[in-house]
Amino acid sequence: RTIFHYSKNTLCCDGQRLDDLADTFGTPLFVTSKKNLITRYNEFEEAFSGLPHFTCYSVKANFNLSVIKTFGELGCGCDVNSGGELYRALQAGVSPEKIIFAGVGKKAEEIAYALRSGVLMLKAESLSELAVIDRIAAESGNVALVAIRINPNVTAETHPYITTGDSKEKFGIDEGELDAVLMLLSELKHVRLAGLDMHIGSQIFDPEYYVAATIKLLAILERVKAQGFAIEYFDIGGGFPVTYDPAKQATPIAQFAEKLIPLLRPAGVKVIFEPGRFLVANASVLLTRILYRKQNHTGKQFFIVDAGMTELIRPALYQSHHEVLAVTRHKESVEADVVGPVCESSDFFARHRTIDDAAEGELLAVMSSGAYAAVMSSNYNGRLRPAEVLVDGQDVRLVRTRETYEQLIQNELL
Ligand code: LLP
Repeated sequence: RTIFHYSKNTLCCDGQRLDDLADTFGTPLFVTSKKNLITRYNEFEEAFSGLPHFTCYSVKANFNLSVIKTFGELGCGCDVNSGGELYRALQAGVSPEKIIFAGVGKKAEEIAYALRSGVLMLKAESLSELAVIDRIAAESGNVALVAIRINPNVTAETHPYITTGDSKEKFGIDEGELDAVLMLLSELKHVRLAGLDMHIGSQIFDPEYYVAATIKLLAILERVKAQGFAIEYFDIGGGFPVTYDPAKQATPIAQFAEKLIPLLRPAGVKVIFEPGRFLVANASVLLTRILYRKQNHTGKQFFIVDAGMTELIRPALYQSHHEVLAVTRHKESVEADVVGPVCESSDFFARHRTIDDAAEGELLAVMSSGAYAAVMSSNYNGRLRPAEVLVDGQDVRLVRTRETYEQLIQNELL
């Protein structure tokens, strides 16, 4: 996060003053550091350099075309979760053979689109889906490469809404189904099993959960190979943690690598990683202007800002912590709630937080807003999605324009 730093008491992104960016582009505004995206990718690659692998950026974390393109240009692949994300990845210039297609509920149209586009493989999550992929591939006389996503039944400790490897969740194929899946795969003529896949959740601090799930998936690999299937890809998903709260530092990626490489190397497969958050979370801030300040009879203070849960829903949805910094530093501080303009009590960024005593009209930066922020934004309350800016040293680029009122109603018919 050092890419965001104070210089002469003003918060900057890679040398650019955030107050200047707000003046130029308006607020709310997402500001992303291209350098930070690149640094994080290199850090990830460095950690796993001792392992034959292929990193697929999980586009769902931040699907801005310029963000995808930045990773694509570094040689990174993409993990997409819908036809829409596939479209975005292709539009950003990522070649289809570097794209893997996930999703617990792919529609036939999406499967057809993926096959037509020539993606590397689809990750199937049920017996029925395998049959649908086979039927669609047969229509064009092709053989589709598939991985099967296994639910390893490992419950990683994270927020309950973002744990996915537990067998009570909808994700993946239960290990008990494996024989039936392999039987079906040996009958289907238009799918070829090329990989095993899992994803146990997100923001997982303890490498031991990956170790436990990997050991299970390796055992499945042996069973699958024993049945005569040649497995090239071994996809252990994403979920690597980032620091949101300086008091709760994320486990360094090197510690995950240290535990996983010795386990995975002997398997002789190409390992796929699908990091999302790790690559983007701390590359962006959400810049917002203080509209009003007020106080209630108990002395409680509120900063009412021009961004809200429509731009960053994570505090409302997962009680997640985001640092809130004043763009212009003040000596005095106050304890306050930082809240948005949306008509919901859950529309807050911070509660009971010590914040610099910034005045109405000044700016706050909601930190770590690169992952699952803009992508989860909505038009609720008739809100316009914010503009997005990519900073690369001296080069400041508007990479998404602010929505307009006209765009709000463009799909409606009177
Ligand atoms: N692969 C699969 C199959 C996934 O479902 C996900 C995330 C990832 C990779 C990337 O996970 P990451 O490396 O970003 O942790 N909206 C929530 C997070 C939802 C994660 C969904 N799946 C949040 O804001 O915390």
